[in-house]
Amino acid sequence: MDFKGSDILSVDQFQKEDLKLLFDTAAQMEIYATRQRVTRVLEGAVLANLFFEPSTRSRVSFGAAFNRLGGEVRDTTGFRFSSMAKGESVYDTSRVISGYSDVMVVRHPEEGAVKQFADATKIPVINGGDGPGEHPTQALLDLYTVMKEHGRSLDQIDGLSIAMIGDLKNGRTVHSLAKLLSLFEDLSFTLVSPKSLRMPDEVIERVRSRNHQVQETENLAEGVKNADIVYMTRIQEERFSSPEEFARHRGRYSIDRKFYADQCKEGAVLMHPLPIDGRPGAQEINDDLHGHPKLAVYRQTDNGIPVRMALFSLVLGVADKVHDVAKDALWYHPEQVDSE
Ligand code: NCD
Repeated sequence: MDFKGSDILSVDQFQKEDLKLLFDTAAQMEIYATRQRVTRVLEGAVLANLFFEPSTRSRVSFGAAFNRLGGEVRDTTGFRFSSMAKGESVYDTSRVISGYSDVMVVRHPEEGAVKQFADATKIPVINGGDGPGEHPTQALLDLYTVMKEHGRSLDQIDGLSIAMIGDLKNGRTVHSLAKLLSLFEDLSFTLVSPKSLRMPDEVIERVRSRNHQVQETENLAEGVKNADIVYMTRIQEERFSSPEEFARHRGRYSIDRKFYADQCKEGAVLMHPLPIDGRPGAQEINDDLHGHPKLAVYRQTDNGIPVRMALFSLVLGVADKVHDVAKDALWYHPEQVDSE
């Protein structure tokens, strides 16, 4: 694909060579993401970061990635504080915002709504999550994390085994990630969920049509036993119509240190898009795993910065100019608490 000027709405847009370009660019962004150097390549550019659903990491990491390229960010959060609360249409909101900004990131509770934003403007629109639909940039940073955690190149993703666990029906991150991974060869997917929260057939069909193995089970121990990657997800409370139904599933799947040691394959990498439901009775990933070398979830969130920087720089056509306007970062910056 030609990234320059493109909307990023679905992982269906990517071929393997696009991922290679994106991840090579992301690797080049690591020195800025880790605050060793500063670049001003997007000086003067404005990102409109429109989040109509709750978010912490996606909103802040899109914004921080844009800032680290030297651009500025204007955020809105929720319907309540936007003119949509006064009945404004998607067309009008999108057209108006595109007069103020150079690129838009939109998160919206309805599947397909981000495409409507994109249809109403010529500036690039990036899908930051559309209801239970897709979350393409999360899938990109997840795949980038898989590569880094396993010390593999893109050509070495073939043959991996991944367990996806939890609310596979409503979780948009697993929809995007399964579709993106299906570009590779000979993968084995184990889908662990209650029957009523199964991965949509359309996603399973896609994966199977590319000759990958797909097994479904409700049993966590069975699901993780051969997996190189254990990808946990949150039960998506906000998509349930009745609190009772949500309560039935909450806490159904949870991994702690003992379970990891007893049941997971040696060296299995533990991932989760976050947020974990950390309230008592849920905890898909138990707090006792903090500091565990195979708990990749915080490295995964950190990877959101170089990957989103790469995407912005490609979409705005400056990827080859990033280093031309760079200098050393001068401020004090400590290590992360979980650095090994
Ligand atoms: C996810 C999302 O919003 O889809 N979070 C994220 O963006 N990392 C996952 C979730 O909310 O469970």
